[in-house]
Amino acid sequence: MPLPLPTALNRAVVTGASSGIGMALATELARRGYSLIVVARRGEVLEELKTRLEAEFSVSVEVRSCDLADPAARQPLLDELAEREISILCNNAGIATFGPIASLDPQYEKHQVQVNAVACHDLVLAVLPGMVARRSGAILNVGSAAGNMPVPNNATYAASKAFLNTFSESLRGELKGSGVNVTLLAPGPVRTEEIVEEDKTFVDRLVPDRLWVDTAYTARLSLDALARNKMRVVPGPLGQFMSVAGNYTPRGIMAPVVGRFYAKLGEGQAEA
Ligand SMILES: NC(=O)c1ccc[n+]([C@@H]2O[C@H](COP(=O)([O-])OP(=O)(O)OC[C@H]3O[C@@H](n4cnc5c(N)ncnc54)[C@H](OP(=O)(O)O)[C@@H]3O)[C@@H](O)[C@H]2O)c1
Repeated sequence: MPLPLPTALNRAVVTGASSGIGMALATELARRGYSLIVVARRGEVLEELKTRLEAEFSVSVEVRSCDLADPAARQPLLDELAEREISILCNNAGIATFGPIASLDPQYEKHQVQVNAVACHDLVLAVLPGMVARRSGAILNVGSAAGNMPVPNNATYAASKAFLNTFSESLRGELKGSGVNVTLLAPGPVRTEEIVEEDKTFVDRLVPDRLWVDTAYTARLSLDALARNKMRVVPGPLGQFMSVAGNYTPRGIMAPVVGRFYAKLGEGQAEA
């Protein structure tokens, strides 16, 4: 099924639209004529996005400032979305931590599970019955290449993305023939902002510029894949390499190699 056509009534929802891939997805959807509900904590950034998108494209943008890590805070959003005609859901908001879990803030680790996994699950459960009843809808889940493998020093992130990767690809199988498309975006590194030489992190220096993909390309590729109901979309050669390596290398071999790399990321985060 192609993507549901935009109408005056229906809305595409993008979580984590206040920066990075989410902002690019919201912009690309608006360019394609979809009116939006944009979600993130920073309402003021979403208001600026609304002003820009409404001026540039003839769409309407509704702002929902919401902390998706907080089950009580996200419940009104879930209740609203269950009642609205949601044509497209982009489950994009996500956070990551690096380093040995015992050294990390336990509360933030719990928030990470809420944002990356539980809130995404909640959002799908809220909008799916309406999509199935209308025999029309599309869900883009933003997982990660990190969700394909064990990643010491990135344990909560990798596990929460493993949930979303598997949930997305399982759900797609259930919904075959239902009129609802489900695609997993499982990126490797995506550069979310221009970066000057002196601000480059360990990963920025390790991964050559030509192997990074940008957010606008990622958004276009993802929405094209969603329109074709592709199971998974992985932008860029490095992401594709990580995807193959993560899925097919024995986990016992992969874990220590990847763990050493992510330990360096943890050191970088501790310094920042
Ligand atoms: N960039 C990459 O290299 C890469 C690679 C693989 C996967 N991914 C995945 O792609 C998605 C987007 O990543 P990105 O790099 O574009 O991230 P980003 O620029 O850091 O943006 C994250 C977005 O999530 C929102 N968010 C974070 N915590 C939230 C909360 N508690 N409640 C509501 N919204 C929250 C942020 O908005 P507020 O701060 O305003 O709340 C922001 O809009 C994530 O799921 C990430 O795991 C990214």
